[in-house]
Amino acid sequence: MTWTWRDSGLLAAGAVGRLVDAQRVKRWYFDRVASGNAGAGGGAAATLLAMARARSPLRDAAGAGGAGAPPAPVEVMKAEERKALLLQQLAGHLKGTTDTWMSIMVASWVLWIDATVMAMIYLGDQLGLYKQMASRGSTWTASRLAKAAGGLQARLVQEWLAQQAAAGLVDFDPKKGTFSLSSACVPLLAEPLSGSFFAPYATLMLACWKRIPTMMDAFRGQCLAPSYDEAGEDLADAMARLHVPEVKFNFIPKVLPLIQDGSLLQRLNSENLLCADVGASGADCTMEMALQFPKATFHAYEVADPALDRARENVKRRGLQNLKIIDAKIHPLGKAISSGQVKQRYDFVMCYDVLHDLAHPEQLIEEVREVLAPGGVWVIVDIASNGEMAENVRNHQKAATYYGISVCVCLPSGLSADGGRGLGTLGFPPEVAEPMFRGNGFSKIRSFQMPSLEKNQVYEVQI
Ligand SMILES: C[S@@+](CC[C@H](N)C(=O)[O-])C[C@H]1O[C@@H](n2cnc3c(N)ncnc32)[C@H](O)[C@@H]1O
Repeated sequence: MTWTWRDSGLLAAGAVGRLVDAQRVKRWYFDRVASGNAGAGGGAAATLLAMARARSPLRDAAGAGGAGAPPAPVEVMKAEERKALLLQQLAGHLKGTTDTWMSIMVASWVLWIDATVMAMIYLGDQLGLYKQMASRGSTWTASRLAKAAGGLQARLVQEWLAQQAAAGLVDFDPKKGTFSLSSACVPLLAEPLSGSFFAPYATLMLACWKRIPTMMDAFRGQCLAPSYDEAGEDLADAMARLHVPEVKFNFIPKVLPLIQDGSLLQRLNSENLLCADVGASGADCTMEMALQFPKATFHAYEVADPALDRARENVKRRGLQNLKIIDAKIHPLGKAISSGQVKQRYDFVMCYDVLHDLAHPEQLIEEVREVLAPGGVWVIVDIASNGEMAENVRNHQKAATYYGISVCVCLPSGLSADGGRGLGTLGFPPEVAEPMFRGNGFSKIRSFQMPSLEKNQVYEVQI
């Protein structure tokens, strides 16, 4: 099918005004894409942005070979389907297949709108507005919501609600003048343990934006790239809220049973195993493990001060006896035994989303080799990627996002010490990881992916 300048012009006009009718696209999306393709945690972002402005799911649909029904011939397509298909093509333009200046312009508008929606999602999440709207389950006026959320300014809440309604996240009843959180948005924006909770991505975005000025200096060579130490609380908060559901609903029940043919899980349930969570951030995931396996003892190793503060606060609040926080700057893992910090070697070590962030990953691999007990196992969950950058750019569905996160967070961390390896978010695929493990004394290495942990690669590593 061919697109004319008129099509592009019409769409551009729509983009400037309202871009696309969010409610119609929402219906289109659920009818034709979500029913067959989304719904699990991995589809959360796509679902939400579909509802917000309909770009990402269309891109996902394209990436998945056009999941759902193939597009109808253009002459029988309804207006909303034509718009949706055009947006799908525009998403393609963002990948670099540019035809017209006009479509690039529209795509830029889509990006800008998505960014604005993310900023407003951050407000709704952090101010408890989504939680209020979902928990009371009813319709809201701005003043009632402002009051229920702890005495916020009603005029500001009203403008936020208008934005949310325009974005399609909140339903607006013009006759009654009331708002309600769209039911499809409840698990995405108001339920932290739904398995498809999306709101922390807005916090992650804020953490990225906050680092931009420092990154400008780092790009110019005026300072070393910033580590997690300089990342502040936002990053630890985003990490915790994104990873805890993964650990609770996937890592513990689905990954652990596969390790050492099930014997690790059995021993965690029945013995006082000594376990280390290295790069534990605020220890939120370590807490999940300590709660799930009360017979085992967990040590959470971390180097960043904001994360260590959160971890200590967490332990104080929950009063867990089987969890200890260790400042790895003072007591590095590799010296745990020789310094007397720990009396026996570790039966189980885990690193969840850590290795690609390290300035010196080989050093940590050596350290784990040093402290792992005979028969012990190291489980690493890291970001799945391809060995070649060109392959990631072409085929990794989330490459644009992950390379962006990499520039702001993961790569700086990996370059934050002299001679830092600087792997980056997508820099630790099996092609890179396995030789590193083998070269540092590990001989039994298994790597696999799990459909339920779609963004991750799991490594089971033993001596
Ligand atoms: C992406 S975060 C990991 C989040 C955490 N595992 C979770 O699941 O929420 C990576 C963490 O590794 C930490 N880190 C980096 N180098 C480290 C080291 N040598 N020892 C311990 N932690 C380290 C960083 O400070 C950061 O908090």
